[in-house]
Amino acid sequence: MSSKKMITANWKMYKTTSAAKAFFGAFLPLIQGRTHPEDQVVVCPGFPLLSVCAEAIRGSGVMLGAQDLFWEAEGAWTGEVSGEMLTSVGCTHVLIGHSERRQHFHETNHSVNKKLKAALQAGLHAIVCIGESLKERECDSTDWVLKRQYLEGFEGIEPGQMPRISIAYEPCWAIGTGRTATPQIAADAHAIIRAEMERSFGEEIAHNVEILYGGSVRPDNARALMSEEEIDGALVGGASLDPQSFAAIVNW
Ligand code: 13P
Repeated sequence: MSSKKMITANWKMYKTTSAAKAFFGAFLPLIQGRTHPEDQVVVCPGFPLLSVCAEAIRGSGVMLGAQDLFWEAEGAWTGEVSGEMLTSVGCTHVLIGHSERRQHFHETNHSVNKKLKAALQAGLHAIVCIGESLKERECDSTDWVLKRQYLEGFEGIEPGQMPRISIAYEPCWAIGTGRTATPQIAADAHAIIRAEMERSFGEEIAHNVEILYGGSVRPDNARALMSEEEIDGALVGGASLDPQSFAAIVNW
């Protein structure tokens, strides 16, 4: 648990290079002298926008992340992107195992694990996404699903690597639905994940891993979520596309 939050934008498959430039032109002035200067701000645009965004955020303190990577370092893997390619364009962060990747592109805990190791190998800070579906929540499997995603996704990770990993708890039923988890639901899920990390790595290491919440975070609910001690930040989809609304979330 950290007193400084990590506020992360996931732009998904939105924006072109010109729209990305326009976003930062409007967004950066809005977060000058921001309410919580100690918080980290990370923006994760699509691959073709990364270089343009790296240029746009230079010197602003905003950090750049990608939305995915492949686990091999290089090779004949048409269409894939390596960790080193990401660092070479200025990425410091990468999302891994987003539920949309799991749902539409058949990513599994096993592929998440390989990608996590590749990200660390490349020197990136990994944000590993986990979360239950509506069906899983309704049949009381949330606990089990989160533990399994965590245990399989983090297999073979060394204690010394944990400071370079964050977790994003994103319940699938809250993504893009306007239905946000209450701060209490999110905090309870975070506590389940943290308890499992404590079992693997001990209290001190587990305590310092940021667990972000994602799923319909908006300017009007950001403060309630960020005020929860167990919630170390936000992973914001839709509301991160607009400079005013993302700035309002950053200034929670
Ligand atoms: P929304 O904020 O649009 O619900 O998306 C959440 C998300 O998937 C962030 O990764």
